[in-house]
Amino acid sequence: MSWLSQALSSSLGKKLLMAMTGLFLIVFLIGHLLGNMLLFKDDGGQAFNEYAKFMTTTPAVLVLSILTYISIIAHVIYSIIITIHNRKSRPVQYAVSNASANSVWTSRSMGVLGTLVLIFIVIHLKSFWFEMKFGSVPIVAYDSGSIKNLYLIVVEAFSQSWYVAFYVIAMMVLAFHLSHGFKSAFQTLGLAHIKYTPLIKTIGTAFAIIVPTLFASMPIYMYMKFHGLL
Ligand code: HEM
Repeated sequence: MSWLSQALSSSLGKKLLMAMTGLFLIVFLIGHLLGNMLLFKDDGGQAFNEYAKFMTTTPAVLVLSILTYISIIAHVIYSIIITIHNRKSRPVQYAVSNASANSVWTSRSMGVLGTLVLIFIVIHLKSFWFEMKFGSVPIVAYDSGSIKNLYLIVVEAFSQSWYVAFYVIAMMVLAFHLSHGFKSAFQTLGLAHIKYTPLIKTIGTAFAIIVPTLFASMPIYMYMKFHGLL
């Protein structure tokens, strides 16, 4: 396995791992978004609850979940390792440093943006994932059987304005993180090409706007529905 540890400790290996885990998390986000869109269904939360049960009890999904946790942890650890390595290899700051002229703001702020996304994920997992797995979620009876009413937990959370504001701000942060991360991952994987780079940039920008906007629309919709504003 020494080739693997050698590959993972090389500069390119670390960047490849960041890119691959980042792309895996992008795929996770698409699936997570589509599943959570069931919150918009006007059925008292049945479809959402059945989906949540499927996601937390199906063995094949469990494997994907474990891959998601590993990807998040590896993505975070390797971002720290790369940052430390870059600082060490440039101990003396450039005499003239005009960072804003050399790179865009999002690319220079990936560390801060990533840290904020991580804080969001930890709070988010505590609110929903931890509750679903270990909390005392009320049971609801459907024709298909009795299951945990996670919809109720989501409604309760998104009935509070500060919680909705937190999600909306977090989704803005996620949008900026994705807007650089998406194209950067393709570049690292060597898929940058004079012909395809503009297309990758356009898809990346569209993805970074559409996905967080749809995620943010869920707490806003739930808040408005709960308070009779719809
Ligand atoms: C407002 C939008 C969102 C809602 C309503 C929502 C809801 C949920 C719920 C109910 C769960 C627990 C049940 C399940 O695994 O499906 C969950 C898990 C999770 N969420 Fe979200 N989520 C949202 C946005 C996000 C975002 C933007 C991220 C990442 C940046 C994220 C990351 C995760 C992760 C990593 C898990 C654990 C997944 C697993 O165990 O496989 N969620 N979410």
